[in-house]
Amino acid sequence: MKRRGVALLLAGATALAACAPAGAPPPALWDRLGGHPVVQRVVDDLLGEVATDPLLRPRFIGQNLRSLTARVVEYLCEQSGGPCRYQGRDLRVAHIGMSITAAEWEGFMAGARRAVERNGVPRVEGAELLALIQSTRNDIVGF
Ligand code: HEM
Repeated sequence: MKRRGVALLLAGATALAACAPAGAPPPALWDRLGGHPVVQRVVDDLLGEVATDPLLRPRFIGQNLRSLTARVVEYLCEQSGGPCRYQGRDLRVAHIGMSITAAEWEGFMAGARRAVERNGVPRVEGAELLALIQSTRNDIVGF
């Protein structure tokens, strides 16, 4: 009886080890999100929304939303472990002189949450993507 228990434990451990090979890195957030098509959809949706939002719209008047979207996707791709190299300016440099307020930031993040939900991003990956966007706050607000 005791032996059988040990054998079962060993079998279970072997099966688990087969599922997650030791030392294999977990898949990057970029891949778990679904890569370019999904992140492009989310960012398109987000910038489409903020460009028409009464509070944020003035910031985006005259901006080329298509190239801005491409830059943001490229940034998120690099930061989430995707294959891209971000070619844009440092985020603090890009937003300097704008004096973006905390209220504008909250509006932007609310838009990001809606864009993540609307595009069916799974809960865990959605939370990680939002945390990644949130992590840029100190380079964007108040300069
Ligand atoms: C309230 C929030 C934000 C506002 C109002 C805002 C506004 C802008 C504007 C107006 C530009 C164009 C600047 C120019 O070309 O002169 C810009 C550029 C950019 N923003 Fe934001 N932004 C916000 C948040 C973010 C966040 C959260 C990210 C990243 C996750 C981001 C990433 C970028 C990038 C990558 C560029 C392009 C930089 C380049 O062209 O080299 N922005 N933003």
